[in-house]
Amino acid sequence: MAGTPSCQDQAYQPPTGPVSVQPVPETPAASVAGGPAQTHTAYEFVREYMAFLLPRDLNVLWTIGAMLVAVLALMLLSGLTLALTYTPDASLAFTSVETLERRVPFGWLLRSMHMTGATFFMAALYLHVFRGLCYGSYRAPRQGLWGVGTVLLMMVMITAFAGYVLPWGQMSYWGADVAGKAVGAIPLVGNMLERVFLGGDAPGTATLHRMFVLHFTLSFAIVGMVILHVAVLHARGSTSPSGPVGQNRARMLPFHPYFTVKDGLGVVVLAILFTLVMCFWSGLVTEAENYRPANPLHTPADIEPEWYFLPFYGMLQAVPSKFFGLLVSGGAVAILLFVPWLDRGASATFVAGRWGGLRWLPRVALAVLVCSFVLAGLAGRHHVQGVWLLVGRLATLGYYLYFLGFLPFYSRLARKEARS
Ligand code: HEM
Repeated sequence: MAGTPSCQDQAYQPPTGPVSVQPVPETPAASVAGGPAQTHTAYEFVREYMAFLLPRDLNVLWTIGAMLVAVLALMLLSGLTLALTYTPDASLAFTSVETLERRVPFGWLLRSMHMTGATFFMAALYLHVFRGLCYGSYRAPRQGLWGVGTVLLMMVMITAFAGYVLPWGQMSYWGADVAGKAVGAIPLVGNMLERVFLGGDAPGTATLHRMFVLHFTLSFAIVGMVILHVAVLHARGSTSPSGPVGQNRARMLPFHPYFTVKDGLGVVVLAILFTLVMCFWSGLVTEAENYRPANPLHTPADIEPEWYFLPFYGMLQAVPSKFFGLLVSGGAVAILLFVPWLDRGASATFVAGRWGGLRWLPRVALAVLVCSFVLAGLAGRHHVQGVWLLVGRLATLGYYLYFLGFLPFYSRLARKEARS
């Protein structure tokens, strides 16, 4: 029930005096942090951020935001240095990347970092969104924060797609071809959009120029959006795994040193994992077919995107019409924008459960969502026929059911209970 302490709360011992279970009013960051509302110097600004109060029970899933920032910095630095030797021309792109890998000192390391970074960034991003869904971090007053996050997700996906085209291997070329045809399936304006996207009738130098500019500029736009994302978070405050109880001032700790140390430890663990994957399991983040130069005359047996796009590719293929497939697949990301309005339940956590009798229900629903996402990805890896077509369709249904069926249903139940 909203505002009811969960079993996790029993462990809390507030430092002084009796503690009311009222949530902290949704006030601007400065007042939550107990600092002045206006900052005048960079020093005061940093001091205010360091003193920012956060619920003390934030678990490991809250460390992923810091990991995302660290990987983003690495992606920008490695990307900028890669761009120094890259040539966006269909006849030179593949060789320029090969030259970087083989001839430029530490070029292989820069490229490996960038490729491994893309995989880690997307994995962390999916976990970050999952955390938000688990704990209802999108609820009022954080709808804006969630909206900025969803736009960020879209920007990151477009940037990752554009980046994958750049090395101009077989998968780069045929990936651009499939994406171009998907855009071309839009009624009325499809042909025109496909030509704008490809810069011609088929992928070529013009496509590479477009993708290079998109990849480069969006990366910096993402940095701006991340700054906005964090600023809105500071204005709205963090969700707590134990709901409003955890957001009580007496149960909060300042960002520094408590969360700087925790986040720092998370980033170190991530760096170790990152290095292990980059040095010992590079096969996890690379696609052998993309080490063959693009050949417009030879279609690979299996055209498949990077792993992080597979669920959306699976949904695209699960629908017989190309246009509706595009709608269903794009809609799977866009639907996140509407989550705060699909679930208008009280601001309590999902996992702690506000609804004694049906506490298991959101967990089962989340498990169905995760399984659907994974199964859609598996369907995307296979030819969509026979059993895989069925799996793709069921997974698409399961994914949409969570947002369009479960969330409105459960939040209506919770509102009804809150009224009674
Ligand atoms: C480039 C991508 C992103 C970066 C670098 C980023 C970074 C961060 C950071 C540093 C935090 C604070 C620490 C934490 O709570 O983990 C945060 C919080 C948050 N992010 Fe993101 N984020 C990104 C994308 C997204 C996306 C795609 C969404 C959702 C669609 C999202 C939703 C949220 C929410 C709701 C919070 C607040 C959680 C709370 O209430 O405690 N973020 N993000």
